[in-house]
Amino acid sequence: MAAAPRQIVLVGLSGAGKSRVGRMLAERLGWPFVDTDDLITEREGRSPAELIPEQGEAAFRAVEAKVVAEASQREPAVIATGGGAFQRADNRRALAARGYVCFLDATPGELARRLREDPEAEARPLLGEDLEGRLEELGAERRAAYLLADQWVPVQLPDPEAAVSRILRGWASDGAGVLGNERRLERFAAETPPRGPAALVDTGDSKYPIWAAPGELARLGERLRQVGLEGRRVFLISDENVIQAHGQVVARALDAAGIPGASYVIPPGEASKSLRLANEIYAWLAAEKAERRDVVVALGGGVVGDLAGHVAATYLRGMPFVQLPTSTLAMNDAAIGGKVALDLPAGKNLVGAFHQPTAVIADIDTLRTLPKRSFIEGFAEIIKHGLILDRTLLRILEEHAAALSSGAPDWDLVAQVTTRSARVKALVVSSDPEERGLRAILNYGHTIGHAIEQATGYREYLHGEAVAVGMMGAARLSVELGLIDQETADRQGDLIRAFGLPLVAPGVNGTVVLDAMQRDKKVEQGRQRYVLLESVGRATVRNDVPADLVQRTVAALVRG
Ligand SMILES: NC(=O)c1ccc[n+]([C@@H]2O[C@H](COP(=O)([O-])OP(=O)(O)OC[C@H]3O[C@@H](n4cnc5c(N)ncnc54)[C@H](O)[C@@H]3O)[C@@H](O)[C@H]2O)c1
Ligand SMILES: [Zn+2]
Repeated sequence: MAAAPRQIVLVGLSGAGKSRVGRMLAERLGWPFVDTDDLITEREGRSPAELIPEQGEAAFRAVEAKVVAEASQREPAVIATGGGAFQRADNRRALAARGYVCFLDATPGELARRLREDPEAEARPLLGEDLEGRLEELGAERRAAYLLADQWVPVQLPDPEAAVSRILRGWASDGAGVLGNERRLERFAAETPPRGPAALVDTGDSKYPIWAAPGELARLGERLRQVGLEGRRVFLISDENVIQAHGQVVARALDAAGIPGASYVIPPGEASKSLRLANEIYAWLAAEKAERRDVVVALGGGVVGDLAGHVAATYLRGMPFVQLPTSTLAMNDAAIGGKVALDLPAGKNLVGAFHQPTAVIADIDTLRTLPKRSFIEGFAEIIKHGLILDRTLLRILEEHAAALSSGAPDWDLVAQVTTRSARVKALVVSSDPEERGLRAILNYGHTIGHAIEQATGYREYLHGEAVAVGMMGAARLSVELGLIDQETADRQGDLIRAFGLPLVAPGVNGTVVLDAMQRDKKVEQGRQRYVLLESVGRATVRNDVPADLVQRTVAALVRG
């Protein structure tokens, strides 16, 4: 068997921690650490930040290419490259020839925050006044190239130790396979990198792509092949509405790919997320003689995804599982992250597991048949992702609210925001697989939101609608605690209103809402944790929100 490469290459934008992580890796491995920017400084007597304005970017890139070519010959070594070096095909080819390439990824907001706190940040080239905006632009230009990397390393949680151990794990398990792989080198050397999936999830234990585009269901055979699921039987689980609207496309795609399958159709609605239905499906799988290597495929909204996921997690102690989400909510939230659960009479989502899918394949075209109210509901989660982590996503939503929420939405825009929003969820889940903290911010608006759903017996408010109201409550708390100004809260309100989602829940019993909040899973040692906003694109978790403030806030929401 081939040995793992004796060179690890780190790429990514400024602020991702390439030097820090690189030095730690080098120390761990006993290898030298090489920073191509430092080599340039040594050789030219001036730093890249000084050289670029002096010589122009083109001349600088030529010097950089020479340095990269030299560095890429060194073995063993950990090599960190300047943020832009990886944009040139010849640099990529040189670095991939001997190195195991890792892409350190975080949101522009997080990178900007770290750069602002970094005393050496002034030395970084190419970044101007609007740091976050500039990082956003650079990320958009460079992402496709970075994603060629052998390993995607989410570093949203600033924990270099965690990044180092994930890199070492990936290198030890996959490293040996990369060198000598001609097709890999061709990909690195291509002038224009191919457009990959919309997003990736990598929890360290499992990794999978998320595709989100129109026409994905027709490509199902190809997608299953891409994730190594060819030659398996497919056990498709769907509900009556979805199978009627999209069953044929899926059946045709599977037929065309020569993939044998069977399907089980459940009644639509939350009532199907039950142990009774799960038992029926177990019996069906047993009768069909499903094997551990076969695949459970969920075609539908969050109900189908949760039920099928639970079955896949448990039948034969776990089968591979693919999500084909067909609702806005499922594409942006439920299908990503591996939480699968059923409801019990005692409450929602009480019995389940973590079972990551092998792929999430979201066909934007399926949203065309989704009832309008469900379609809009899912935007609450997209708005949430913008508010907690992605300022640019929020701006796109603000600018195009009408085109996104009209009776005839702009489907390309829907695909664009779904891609960004799925990427936010994927990044959070991947950066914090053990739920040490970051993942909690996904609950923005959910503490009050869940309580409103419960207080109304899950009959009056769809989940996203209740979350919209909950986000207004959380914004109110954030204003009262001096974290954001009223303008920011109003901005959030304007956006929620523009999508036709509710800002208040008039007539709901406030006492029952507060009671439900008390019983929430998020109460820790008697203290309720709240996800609050610090600014647009930045959330924080607090457990010191005064009870009377919460009472007043809920009272205002239900007064209307
Ligand atoms: N696992 C998680 O992390 C997670 C996260 C959020 C929500 N959830 C769960 O998701 C569920 C809600 O998901 P949902 O809103 O998608 O509900 P859903 O699955 O009930 O779908 C809503 C309705 O739309 C129909 N439908 C779905 N896609 C359609 C399409 N393309 N065309 C026509 N009709 C279509 C369904 O038949 C259903 O009637 C809840 O049970 C919730 O607990 C899970
Ligand atoms: Zn939610």
